[in-house]
Amino acid sequence: MALRSLFPTLIYRAPLGGLGAARFNQRLLDEVEALRLHDTKGQGWSDRHYVGGYTSYATHSKLHRTSATFRELERRLAPHVRRFAARLHYDLRGRTVEMTDCWVNFMPAQVAHGMHLHPLSFLSGTYYAQTPRGSAGLKFEDPRLSSLMAAPPRRSDAPAPFGPFVTMPVRAGMVILFESWLRHEVPASRVRGERVSVSFNYAWSPK
Ligand code: NI
Repeated sequence: MALRSLFPTLIYRAPLGGLGAARFNQRLLDEVEALRLHDTKGQGWSDRHYVGGYTSYATHSKLHRTSATFRELERRLAPHVRRFAARLHYDLRGRTVEMTDCWVNFMPAQVAHGMHLHPLSFLSGTYYAQTPRGSAGLKFEDPRLSSLMAAPPRRSDAPAPFGPFVTMPVRAGMVILFESWLRHEVPASRVRGERVSVSFNYAWSPK
């Protein structure tokens, strides 16, 4: 008998790294805290669409173009994105991969971000700047879930990748990358303090 596993769904996880990673992380945290304080429009938007938390998604979604700290984040992320694209076997000769969006998210206890994907993008991901103990992970949905009509439930001892959802743990200083079509969510958690993350999208274009 032979079994082959086809059409893999890859998730990339690695420390951001680079020189002075902890110091850089602190600089990023200081900057996003100041951003939140000053972004009253974004606070208002978050009150309606991100209840209990704050996101700069609607007001400052291209932070890599306006802030030296975020430009530095973009620079530190670049090798990870190249490595991930290579492991996915995409042919990027004569093509560039560019960050198109970059925004920050504050999630205190009980704040959730429902299942979604990132349309119009190629690769997406998140950098975790602050993850208090008990922070929710990043929960991915099996992209074939809607096709699993009439399948019986899987055994409770099935390996995690066979489940309908897989949650990747998150930790400050780590990067997670995924293909933008992969649906994901952040469940609510009982965390003390705030989970702070920076999310981003990449697109490709001919050189
Ligand atoms: Ni997302």
